[in-house]
Parts: sequence; C-alpha cells; structure tokens
Amino acid sequence: MDTQKAHWSKNAAVYEIYPMSFKDSNGDGYGDLAGILEKIDHLNGSENSLGIDAVWICPFFKSPMRDWGYDVTDYTDINPMFGDMKTFEKLVEEFHARGIKIIIDYVGNHTSDQHEWFKESRSSRKNKKRDWYIWHDGITVNGERLPPNNWVSIFGGSVWEYDKHTDQYYLHTFLKEQPDLNWHNPEVREAMGQVIDFWVKKGVDGLRIDAFYNFIEDKLLRDDTINPTYANPHDGSYWTLKHNHSLATTANLGVVADFTKEALARHPNLLIVAEAYVSPQDMHAFHELIDNERFTVFNFTILGRQFKVSVYKPLIDEYLLGTPDNSDPTKRPGPKFLPNFTLGNHDMSRLVSQIGEAQARVAVFLQFMLPGLKFIYYGDEIGMTDTHIPEENIRDWAARLIFKQQKSRDPERTPMQWDDSEYAGFSSHKPWLPINDNYKTVNVAHNDRDPKSMLSLYKSLIRFYHGHDFLHSSQYVPRDSVSENVFSFELININTPGKRFIVYANFGDTIERELLPEDASSPTIIFCTSDRTSTHGLPKYLELLPYEGYVLEI
Ligand code: NOJ
Repeated sequence: MDTQKAHWSKNAAVYEIYPMSFKDSNGDGYGDLAGILEKIDHLNGSENSLGIDAVWICPFFKSPMRDWGYDVTDYTDINPMFGDMKTFEKLVEEFHARGIKIIIDYVGNHTSDQHEWFKESRSSRKNKKRDWYIWHDGITVNGERLPPNNWVSIFGGSVWEYDKHTDQYYLHTFLKEQPDLNWHNPEVREAMGQVIDFWVKKGVDGLRIDAFYNFIEDKLLRDDTINPTYANPHDGSYWTLKHNHSLATTANLGVVADFTKEALARHPNLLIVAEAYVSPQDMHAFHELIDNERFTVFNFTILGRQFKVSVYKPLIDEYLLGTPDNSDPTKRPGPKFLPNFTLGNHDMSRLVSQIGEAQARVAVFLQFMLPGLKFIYYGDEIGMTDTHIPEENIRDWAARLIFKQQKSRDPERTPMQWDDSEYAGFSSHKPWLPINDNYKTVNVAHNDRDPKSMLSLYKSLIRFYHGHDFLHSSQYVPRDSVSENVFSFELININTPGKRFIVYANFGDTIERELLPEDASSPTIIFCTSDRTSTHGLPKYLELLPYEGYVLEI
C-alpha cells in the first residue's frame, strides 16, 4: 500500500444520484440518464464544478418500480423511463473522460416478483428454479398453519408470504413483491456473478451492494428475539425484534463473503461498498472477513445522531481506532480498512433537516477532514431540506403500507433544485414529487452566486481535500479539547514527518478558545469554514466562533 499508488477510492468524494430526481431530460416529470449527462458540468470537468470523483447512481434497471427500482426484473437491461443502454454507454464514456468514476447499485438480496426467475420458481415445487428463492411449508401450531417463524419484514408484517399456487410460504425481507434470493444456491451465485461481470465490462467502477447483511439468514430459521427496549412491543413493526437470526453475521455470511472476495479478485479495479446498518464493531468484523482495500461497509454511525461532540466523538474514535492494528500511527497511513463517512442518502431525512444548517456545515467539514471515502447525497451540497408531503400523496409504497410505523422516504427524494424557474429547472413538466417551497433561494444557481453558501463551502472543501496530501494518508489521533463543544484531532502524515495538522470544529453556538500544543511556535490556519477576518488569538490559543471549523498546520 505505502509504495504502490493508492486505489482511486481511497481519495474519493462520491456523489449519490437518485436518478428519478436529478434531472428530467424528456419532460415526463421523472429524472433520467440523459438528464444526468446534461448536468455533468455540475459534477466535474468545468471550472465551476463541485469537483467530485465518483457518482453512485441508484437503480435504473428494468423494474415495475414497486420500490422505485429496488425491485429488479432484469439486472442487465435499462428501464425505458431512464433511457437505454446507448445512453448509459455514453454516460460512462463522458464521465470517464472527465475522470468521474461510476458506481451502480447491486440489488442482490431480492428480485422483483415479476422477474422471470421468480415467475419460474413460483410456478411449481418441481421447477428447476424453485430453490433460487426461499420456500417453506410453515409450521402447524394447535392445528393452525403458521409462517415458519416470527421474522418481521423491514417494510412491516411477516417476512413470509403464503403462495396458494404451490401451498408454501416464500421469504421477503422487504415488500412481498421483493422475494429474497437464496444465496446458498450456487446457481444463484453464478447468475449474480455474471451480473457483476456484465457491468464491469460496460465500464462500471464500483458497486453499492444493497441490503448486504440481509443476503443470508439463519439456516435453522430460529425466531428472532423480542426487543425489550422498543416502546411499542405490539405494533408489529421491524423494531419489535432484535434480528439476531434474520440478519447475517460474520459467522454465517460465508458464501456471500466468498462471493464478494471473488468478485474483487476477478475485477482488480472494482470498489464494493456494502449497505449494512451496523455498529463500528460489526463493521470491523465485516472488514476483517472481507479484508480488501477496495471493500468497505457504509458507515452510517453519525447519521441521524444528536449533533454533540459527546455523541460524535466516541463513534468516530471507535470507528477509526477500533481495529487492533491502529494503535501505532507510524505503522501505516490510516486505519487497516477503507473508511468512509456518509451524511445522507435516499432512505434518511436530509442532513440540514436533521441537525440544522449551521451544524450541517460543521458535519460536512468534518467529513472532509476525516480519512476515507466521502458520500454526498444529491442536493445536500446546496442545503436542500426535507419536503413535507401529505399522507394521501405519499409515493413511497413501503411507507404507505406502514405509515404509522415508518416514516415516508419521499421528503428526502424530491427533485434537485437547479434554479428559481418553474419546477426548479428540474423538468418542464410537473415532477413526480413536489418541489420544496424553498427552491427560490435554495438552488444551484443562487448558491453559486453566494460565496458563503453551502455549495461554496462544499467546493472549497473538495478543492482543499484534493490539494492536500495529508488528508489522504494520515493517521487520525484524537485530542482533548478545553470546551465540550469542540471536537479536535490531529492528522499525522507518515509521508511528511515533522509536519503536524490539527483540526478543530466548534459544535456549539458560543465562542470557544482552544489551547494549542506547547511546541506550536508558529501555527498557521490553512483552512477555515468561514471568511472571518478578525483575530483568532494565535499563536497563544485558537478562538472559534459558533460552528466554525479550522485546520491548523503547526
Ligand atoms: C435499501 C435501499 O437503500 C432502499 O431504498 C430499498 O428500499 C431497500 N434497500 C430494499 O432494496
């Protein structure tokens, strides 16, 4: 690692595009691939671009769109509402010409119930694809036929759907229209391996594996344990259980871990990012199992948390320092695994809506100062907020089914706000989800004119990040701070011994003063989130205004 050129992913800012909401090129109210191409200048390659290194495009494959593309009927064909294969090929060519890597979604846990594989599987118990999905007779209790166990679907109700035609139940972790594939079946793995090869051949650089820890369940189908801390134990929701048997662990991930390792070996430039909502400890267990610098588990730990140093710091420390090999900063440039920091996605309330705009600026600053991949959700770069959508207009089918238990994901999926024209420059037609009322000022064009805007902050952070080697190959070393509102750490760069970089971030709305290291004779500010010109107290101490972030070279 130290002597070889690092893989691109080690230094990448990745921009997530929810294709239905990014840009509509043909005026049908839904975004599409040609729309993404139209907006390439926003991403990279022109002077005024954001400067991101890669995009992750959410599903655009053939699908009945029950879960907006996370229910695939053909993994190697394009849903006509998004365009066609020629457009995708053009996108790959143009993005690559500007140095933008492409990550696509890999929805391997389940297919659509309209997929030919499932249609065959469901047609008869003797069909050769019967075992491609998970079928079971169920159990009989006091003469009553019941599902095999108590597992609850993430989208509510039992994971088991009774299918009259062959008189058995099939497993679906998500909607009943999303039956789970049986990853224990080598034929399934073979077919799904071919899907990866197909897209890599098309030029795809990375995969975001959807629902990674749902791929494998307990073979004995043992009941999940009741979650004693959940407040509404009888509401039938996902949270009533602890999922100690319905979710994969490192102990039983076996064939899927091998499959992942094989894909990485077959494709030496491929990056794999796995979706799993797990603790830092469990992420490390996955990283140890699939030990590869091109594999990482999405790090959602700070997402949705209270914006406090006392909440963020232990999570970040545990994430970056929790692997056995990280105790000696001189040993290697950074953690043993490929870290990442994610502040938003299409399933979570938007960052600004969660913690506030001033706070979001600090969180984004930290994201760029901490080691690893950075995931940016489209629209967060202009400070978009959740859009209220009345219950009767909800388009997130899963939420319509279980609205009382799970919030709808529509609010964070509304169209990108490009300018202040009708429909915010997203489309010439009424969009599939409403535009947020704030679009007159929260839009790309407006942000662009304002040097203090969120977009300007993102651009300066990305440029700073690209321009400073220490942000790519440093060891994170936590520091104590005077104020409980200040999060501080040092970045020790093994490539430039003798140089010290210290990051300070004020999480609070009060002015704070931080002491500098005693040997800091001429500390220099090399980055600040604000355009403040007043004195900072240097070299004696560093004065931070509310929600300011600094990088000092000591
Ligand atoms: C996670 C995806 O991010 C989400 O949008 C989807 O509904 C589920 N997986 C099921 O594929």
